[in-house]
Amino acid sequence: MEIDCRENIEIGLMEIDAQHRVIFDKINELIHLLESGASKCVFVKNLVEFQRHVLTHFKTEESLMIENNCKCYEHHKMQHEYFKDWIIDRLLHYREDNQIIEEIATFSKIWMKNHIVNTDIKLKLLN
Ligand SMILES: [Fe+2]
Ligand SMILES: [Fe+2]
Repeated sequence: MEIDCRENIEIGLMEIDAQHRVIFDKINELIHLLESGASKCVFVKNLVEFQRHVLTHFKTEESLMIENNCKCYEHHKMQHEYFKDWIIDRLLHYREDNQIIEEIATFSKIWMKNHIVNTDIKLKLLN
């Protein structure tokens, strides 16, 4: 169930690739916690950390696009907003059910990977 992003989804921008790696590490951590049966308190801590990394990362990409007057800014940001809203919605529904954690880990993994290979990859053209 783990995901290795080191080769197949690097876009070639050091800071962005490093942030993507952290995000996938956080997703993998959530999967490990599910397998080891962690407590709600541990899940909440990790979910908040995951969300914090995602928000920081989206800001980094958006600042880069603004600095470079990127035409794709609005479209790219709209995708970030969608994911941010989705995470908030899932977090609001989290009580103690591992199903939500599994959903967050699985969907985040798929969404992030698709977003990187289809949208983030265009950031490479800015440099
Ligand atoms: Fe992005
Ligand atoms: Fe990204």
